[in-house]
Amino acid sequence: MKYAVAIDGPAGAGKSSIAKEVSKRLGFIYVDTGALYRTVALYLLNNGIKADEIDKIEEALKHIEVSMEHKEDGQHVFLCGEDVSHLIRTEPVSMMASTTSALPVVRKFLFDLQVQMAEKYNVIMDGRDIGTVVLPNAQVKIFLTATAEDRAKRRMLEYKAKGQEADFDKILEDIIKRDYQDMNRATSPLKKAEDAILLDTTGNEFSQSVELMMNTIKSRLSI
Ligand code: DC
Repeated sequence: MKYAVAIDGPAGAGKSSIAKEVSKRLGFIYVDTGALYRTVALYLLNNGIKADEIDKIEEALKHIEVSMEHKEDGQHVFLCGEDVSHLIRTEPVSMMASTTSALPVVRKFLFDLQVQMAEKYNVIMDGRDIGTVVLPNAQVKIFLTATAEDRAKRRMLEYKAKGQEADFDKILEDIIKRDYQDMNRATSPLKKAEDAILLDTTGNEFSQSVELMMNTIKSRLSI
């Protein structure tokens, strides 16, 4: 039997950094599903396809190949064989991913890949609909959140650490817009699964959030 931990929550709540550390400690594979939506978005942006050009998107999906590899330094995503793990971490890609992930054809396109990972490995999988749609039978479900201001602050520090320009008000505005889009779409909106445990990381140090998640998972899985 495989273990599956589903982590959902809004952008910037710390899902990926916390889940990455926790999966290392548990020896689980960390699957960042947002990276898959970002990879599709990158292809569309690179090919000048707009989010409302549904026919073109459907046609594009026939040519898009998305795959994942898990290496020592974490997950890498590939677009038609090219490692795009870094290219997908920009604001335009974030916004395009949020918009196009509302499309049922895009969600359907990425669904099997996510389920297959959980069939093969013990996983901690993060996203927006993991506990509700992708892995409804996950043994542990966590809904990780924090205030929008706290999340924007963290995003800004991440950009600065990478030497990228960052404007707090713009980041906050983008986060609020993405939250709205992710929570109000018709297909698989971001919401807490009924049986998910709510963890709020507002004001926490990274290490506190890691401990909180470790303890939550351990108490549910008895490992
Ligand atoms: O987790 P992230 O910020 O990298 O995700 C980028 C976008 O992809 C996010 O705004 C919503 C979408 N997404 C989704 O709809 N379902 C998922 N399981 C993961 C991400």
